[in-house]
Amino acid sequence: MALQHLEDLARRYALKAVEADRKGDRKIAIKYYDRAAELLIKIVKLYPELPLRDTYLETSRSYKRRAEELKKHSLSVAIGEGHDQYFIEELMLVEKPNVKWEDVVDLEHAKEEIKKAIVYPAKRPELFPLGWPRGILLFGPPGCGKTYLASAVATEIDAVFFNIDAASIMSKWLGEAEKNVAKLFRKGREIASKGKPVIIFIDEIDSLFGIYASEIGGEVRVRNQFLKEMDGLQDKGKKLLLFVIGATNKPWNLDNAFIRRFQKRIYIPPPDYEARAELFKLYTRKLKLDPNVNIEELAIMTEGYSSSDIEDICREAQDKVVEEFFKETGGAYGEPRAVTMEDFIEIIRRRRPSISKSMIRSYEEWTEKFGAI
Ligand SMILES: Nc1ncnc2c1ncn2[C@@H]1O[C@H](COP(=O)(O)OP(=O)(O)O)[C@@H](O)[C@H]1O
Ligand SMILES: [Mg+2]
Repeated sequence: MALQHLEDLARRYALKAVEADRKGDRKIAIKYYDRAAELLIKIVKLYPELPLRDTYLETSRSYKRRAEELKKHSLSVAIGEGHDQYFIEELMLVEKPNVKWEDVVDLEHAKEEIKKAIVYPAKRPELFPLGWPRGILLFGPPGCGKTYLASAVATEIDAVFFNIDAASIMSKWLGEAEKNVAKLFRKGREIASKGKPVIIFIDEIDSLFGIYASEIGGEVRVRNQFLKEMDGLQDKGKKLLLFVIGATNKPWNLDNAFIRRFQKRIYIPPPDYEARAELFKLYTRKLKLDPNVNIEELAIMTEGYSSSDIEDICREAQDKVVEEFFKETGGAYGEPRAVTMEDFIEIIRRRRPSISKSMIRSYEEWTEKFGAI
């Protein structure tokens, strides 16, 4: 079957699921969320080179999650106005992200910029009679802390954190995306007007508003609504502590109108040698290490690896010794052996770095063009 056809079908399943979900028709919703999720996986398997690959995987996961949620809840979701409430609350992370400033390794420049743009205004708004930037764009290679940093900011200023990702737009907003954008901002303003800081965080913002957006659901209107809301914050929402943070790995997919709304653009670079050493220290802290493990050496070996890669490498090292332990002893008593330098070397050799020199060049070029600070 042609790709286009499969995509159409997935979209149709998703629409049916969302519609049923909205009506509180759980059984049907579960069925179609599952179908849509499976079909997206199939598409990705058939077309591994697809530019929307990650979006589809992410979306598929969110459908699965929603289906699981529906299976768990014996009560059907509320209908009508009640559903809106439900929808908005689902997007709000009531539970704090719980990432602390200190958990974020390196990125000193980005932290400084974020302090100036968000933390200080949130703490002492009266010191900023001329206002502060509303839109902050975090851009840079995947896995280097954009999402992580945004969560840390929310913790730092004790903000209500709306976490919106491309997948939730796809699954839950389909069909009425622009109305929901308006609702989201209304809710944000309402909370902020009571003096509580609000962060609207939009992850993978390029897949919503970038050049592929029309492929997803033809949601041109959602984009316009979003721009309108951002402009509204500039004038009538001047005093509100409402911040919009967008994150993207592909800033070049954003168009000018969009970029302009994010007055502050912050590059989140891949970890340099020192940062990589810090990351290895952090993520091996709880592991039993052989004395032959040399952190500096590991940092040298991992040029081009993202922070998230390094975390994964450490987790793989843990898994390796644990698996070996279970296989050799059955695991009932005793302890796995310590992780050695050889383990790390083997794991690193097997894994390719996720960040290439040409990728970095693209970010630098974009930075030059759009004057990131
Ligand atoms: N600077 C960092 N310090 C510590 N851990 C990090 C850092 N950057 C990324 N990580 C780890 O990698 C994971 C993925 O990072 P994430 O913020 O989602 O990357 P991005 O949003 O840039 O793609 C995080 O949850 C965290 O565990
Ligand atoms: Mg991210």
